Amino acid sequence: MSKSAELAALIQGRAGDAPVRIGMVLGSGLGHLAEQVDGTAIPYEDLPGFPHAGVSGHNPKLVIGDLEGVRVAVFGGRAHYYESGRGDAMRLPLEVLKALGAEQLILTNAAGSFRPDIPPGDLMLLSDHINFSGRNPLIGEPTDARFVPMTQAYDPAMRAALTQAAQAEGIDLKDGVYAWYSGPSFETPAEIRAIKILGADAVGMSTVPEVILARFLGLRVAAISSITNMAAGMSDENISHEHTKAMAPLGAAKLEKILRRALRPGL
Ligand code: HPA
Repeated sequence: MSKSAELAALIQGRAGDAPVRIGMVLGSGLGHLAEQVDGTAIPYEDLPGFPHAGVSGHNPKLVIGDLEGVRVAVFGGRAHYYESGRGDAMRLPLEVLKALGAEQLILTNAAGSFRPDIPPGDLMLLSDHINFSGRNPLIGEPTDARFVPMTQAYDPAMRAALTQAAQAEGIDLKDGVYAWYSGPSFETPAEIRAIKILGADAVGMSTVPEVILARFLGLRVAAISSITNMAAGMSDENISHEHTKAMAPLGAAKLEKILRRALRPGL
């Protein structure tokens, strides 16, 4: 049995074997939603091979259960490339999600914005990304499945459903392009000017490798950034992880409303 099948069996043994429909990965400061799920929480440390989610502001547990009548698997923390130098650090959790029956994945993150019309406290729906790190989680994958098309990586139907849900909740949700810099240091103002010229609207240190892995696994994907700051050089505001954690809850409240609303009609 593969490692992901073994872990899926372990999880089903604890949480029941009804198929999961949607997976969600919660970014820095966005872990509250995991507490809203009516189900079973399993700490990552009980799941061999799961990341030790060593970033403060994350909540390293998997919660499987019901949210708005939909069976979800919520990952309260993620592994970042910058923690280990491994681009595929989230591969096993996403393989497990797939083995649990999920077809869709919603990723969330904290990000810095370049757009004055998407200020801190707002959310941005990813329409596309720029992999500026140059790293790819599929390097070393031996099969032809590694040649994953990325033209519509962010699922149009899921994006439309999330946009509609935001409208119904009266929440402004603009589209934008997310650029992945590896971190863990924040970007320089020159790096921000550069990536802005290249067409990005926001920057962060996660999500892109997960999108690539999810598409590789055949999961449909959507992603939302909670904007915690204007990117380096764009305002006098201080950029720090403390600031990210302090600001993320502003977006988290809106994010929760949008996700709940999107789940209701069956995303
Ligand atoms: N840069 C990278 N990652 C981030 C930022 C940022 O400005 N804000 C929150 N996460």
